[in-house]
Amino acid sequence: MKKGMVWILGIAAGALLPFAVLETPTLAHKGESHPAGADAPASTGAQALAGINAAYLRQVKPIFYAKCFDCHGSGKPLPWYAGIPGAKQLIESDIRGAKRHLDMSRDFPFGVQHTPLEQFNGIAAVLKDGSMPPWLYRIAHRGSALTPQEVSTIQAWIDESRKSLQGPGK
Ligand code: HEC
Repeated sequence: MKKGMVWILGIAAGALLPFAVLETPTLAHKGESHPAGADAPASTGAQALAGINAAYLRQVKPIFYAKCFDCHGSGKPLPWYAGIPGAKQLIESDIRGAKRHLDMSRDFPFGVQHTPLEQFNGIAAVLKDGSMPPWLYRIAHRGSALTPQEVSTIQAWIDESRKSLQGPGK
């Protein structure tokens, strides 16, 4: 098989697979209510979130912009292979899937469908299992994997943020 063909198949599989499993986690949230700020004491909630976002913009956003925004953010041009017939549709459905889970386009807190603590849990989980960026994307974009240094920067931000959401004494 020609190298180009492998890529196209890879891109297609990468775009469709996540889409196929997408509905399960979404359904799991049906009927549960996630009131905004439920994780944080009301008095310190807004302040804590603002502090967390300030740290995010300084330390973490540059990493996410470089390595996650193709799918989870906005404002970056589509990769070159979007020009391959059919690829654009697949990439766009991948992006829809990614953003439904985690939309980074509006800074922290991302999206409204998950609480901040749920967002931290989700990101911490992919840091741990190394599943993001997806491996097919890592193959197509050399150097797009998170470095150990980046993983610990993001993890440190999550640890600090969890503490500040829970307030002192917990
Ligand atoms: C090539 C596109 C792509 C890139 C780049 C990418 N993601 Fe994702 N991400 C997805 C898709 C698609 C999903 C949803 C489908 C799934 O669960 O696999 C997802 C889901 C997630 C989730 C939710 C997981 C869950 O189980 O709910 C997190 C958290 C996440 N990504 C974090 C990241 C981070 C952090 C980066 C950058 C280091 C990143 N992603 C880069 C496509 C991408």
